[in-house]
Amino acid sequence: MSFTALEPATPRLHRSELAVPASNPKMIEKASRCAADVVFLDLEDSVAPEDKPRARQNAIAALNDLDWGAKTISVRVNGLDTHYTYRDVIEVVSACPRLDLVFLPKVGVAADVYALDVLVTQIEQEHRRTKRVGFEVMIETALGLTNVEAIAQASRRLEAMCFGSGDFAASTGARTTTIGGLNPGYGVLSEPDASGQRAYFQLDPWHAAQARIVAACRAYGLRPLDGPYSDFNDADGFCASSRRAAALGFEGRMVIHPSQIESANAIFSPAPDEVARARRIVAAMAQAARDGKGAVTLDGRMIDIANIRMAQRLLAKADAIAAAAH
Ligand code: COA
Ligand code: MG
Repeated sequence: MSFTALEPATPRLHRSELAVPASNPKMIEKASRCAADVVFLDLEDSVAPEDKPRARQNAIAALNDLDWGAKTISVRVNGLDTHYTYRDVIEVVSACPRLDLVFLPKVGVAADVYALDVLVTQIEQEHRRTKRVGFEVMIETALGLTNVEAIAQASRRLEAMCFGSGDFAASTGARTTTIGGLNPGYGVLSEPDASGQRAYFQLDPWHAAQARIVAACRAYGLRPLDGPYSDFNDADGFCASSRRAAALGFEGRMVIHPSQIESANAIFSPAPDEVARARRIVAAMAQAARDGKGAVTLDGRMIDIANIRMAQRLLAKADAIAAAAH
């Protein structure tokens, strides 16, 4: 391990984060009863410019009047390139003791997060808030991805970074059909086999950006989140994309429709067979330690101390999920 100690952000379950346009009180009410770990009330791109002030008031009323249970509640404010951000932050943070997170979209440089921290710190002091507000940010521009490691270290309030492939494609010029979907043109054609046949494999155009965000988050104790999958009628596509994200190390993902919550919660939870195997790994390694060995064989495969670390991480998440269910 490096001598640099990693300080993890405030721990929370973050398998699913439901996007809810704050201009829509009916959806907000429905969201308060949903099974998502986190709900964010959106003041940004799902709200038309003429609806911004009303959406802000809806978000404040919803945070104060509805019963959100144990859910984490976030408000996505408008980006720093608009004239809405300061009012979004001041009005919502001042008026809502229940607020857990402020969600800043289109973050480009570390100073964007620093500026938000200045504002939120002053509001907390003025209102003597007892619950400290955390931050999550969207990495969804070429500038944001280029500076992602610096952004990850920009504030002690930062808990999570979420990849947004739609805006990222708009920023980089990547061609995509649906947000979170693939592009049939992005693939490889194999060399001909012995009979001259060639196979075509579609690849994931978001992989490089996602892997970089996962590494930056995990390096600095943050939760990496995958972004939305806009084709909410394509459950198979959503699940495949979520499984890919979970395999890469994402903690959870944004969902845009209630129908995606259950799958996201299941896919970003350790499966029962994974939990059982992790427990066997921990037991086998405890025995190995007693026998004075660092590596042993389990089910015909080598396991060593790295497997304990993977198993312990998985078991910690399984325990947090079990605790939340009670
Ligand atoms: N949050 C809460 N409730 C939602 C919801 C959401 N994100 N999306 C849909 N619902 C509700 C609907 O109101 C409807 O409720 P009802 O059965 O009580 O009438 C039910 O779920 C079924 O919705 P459906 O008819 O299938 O979809 P829709 O046409 O009402 O909405 C969208 C489709 C895409 C407009 C909607 O899902 C949405 O606004 N999603 C979030 C968009 C967003 O925030 N984008 C920004 C982040 S990328
Ligand atoms: Mg966006």
